[in-house]
Amino acid sequence: MTADHPDIARLVDPASRFDPYPLLASFRAASPYAVSDGLLVVGRHADCSAVLRDPRMSSERDRARLAPASKGPRTRNFLHLDPPDHTRLRRLVVKAFTPRVVARLEPRIRELAEGLFREAARRGRFEIVSELAYPLPLRVICELLGVPFEDRDLLEDWSGKLSEALEPPLPGLVAPRATSEAARARVQFITYFRELIAQRRRSPRDDLVSHLVQVEESGDRLSESETLATCVLLINAGHETTVNLVSNGVLALLHHPDQLKLLRGDPSLAAGAVEEVLRYDAPVQLTSRVARGDGHIGSLPVLDGDTVVLLLGAANRDPEVFDAPDTFDITRPPGARHLSFSAGPHFCLGAGLARLEARIVLEMFASRVTAPSLAENGLAYRPNLTLRGPDRLNVLFDDIQ
Ligand code: HEM
Repeated sequence: MTADHPDIARLVDPASRFDPYPLLASFRAASPYAVSDGLLVVGRHADCSAVLRDPRMSSERDRARLAPASKGPRTRNFLHLDPPDHTRLRRLVVKAFTPRVVARLEPRIRELAEGLFREAARRGRFEIVSELAYPLPLRVICELLGVPFEDRDLLEDWSGKLSEALEPPLPGLVAPRATSEAARARVQFITYFRELIAQRRRSPRDDLVSHLVQVEESGDRLSESETLATCVLLINAGHETTVNLVSNGVLALLHHPDQLKLLRGDPSLAAGAVEEVLRYDAPVQLTSRVARGDGHIGSLPVLDGDTVVLLLGAANRDPEVFDAPDTFDITRPPGARHLSFSAGPHFCLGAGLARLEARIVLEMFASRVTAPSLAENGLAYRPNLTLRGPDRLNVLFDDIQ
């Protein structure tokens, strides 16, 4: 930190979990700037968008001068690879997430969501995170991959630990214990998928794991460790993020009863509501890139190996791009694009699926839950900065239809 730049480490303060946006606005206004040697912060929409699309900005985090010394060879998933490996691996799974394929999932997602609302009605209470936002996307991605849903407790445990490792390289942020737990969870995931892959090799089914096994066997396009890394990436990215979109969405509607009423009156606003939640309270707040070679972001010099932290949640509220950026307005006209799904070659592969799941859930929440309100002390946040969302969200209601 320099004297005239706000201290980015203040984001870590638990007090800013409930509303980090005033702090993020100060970082955005001061950005781009260097936090310390090798660590830069970018928060303006135009700069984030340019960095995400710039081929000289690498996704290979271990190129960073700040990166911890690598402990032996490890296969990275394609989120953390550059072309040509990124292009090759992404292409193998992109077909499973095209708009047509995703649209076909709608009846099944509706059926699952209806079941979860029915159970909440029977119980007479609704804890949104564990009873709706987590189980729905986890079940959907398990079914797509062909992972038995009975193993959900294991998967939840390992995924949660892996999420810790997504934290940006801010001083004091990732405790060494969290890093070693993440490494252990990665090994457990790999062992789990190695067994599942062996089963699908013996008797293939109509699922994504079987598809990847067939690709691996049909030539030299995919190694076994790449298959494993892709499975772990898909299961994690497929639910750890969507849980926050659903919970942040329900919370935003509870905090803005006028918007909830609008949605209740006109369910066709649900798609716009999802876009507005993505912009207003991004489930993935941060990502980063590593500079290949020297250059500039605006007038800020960038050196080879510098880590550039991109504040997506701040960019989404940039007044240069969005009118009244701190207002939650589900009828906001389409136009300016939020960066919640990133941009450029790593644009979220599951964006269509996440949008569909959230649209179904927010529409059902608005139309079926009568007189919903946030329970007293009903909200607690996860400590994570990268994945932002509640840990607990208790909703009171009169009835669920
Ligand atoms: C990549 C956000 C849901 C799969 C990304 C990135 C972001 C993101 C920001 C790119 C990070 C970067 O550029 O460094 C989200 C959000 C979601 C969501 C906010 C939900 C609200 C999903 C779902 C899947 C998924 C449901 C299902 C498979 C992926 C994959 C990548 C990715 C595979 C890597 C793409 C690549 O590197 O080419 N996501 N995601 N995501 N996402 Fe999502």
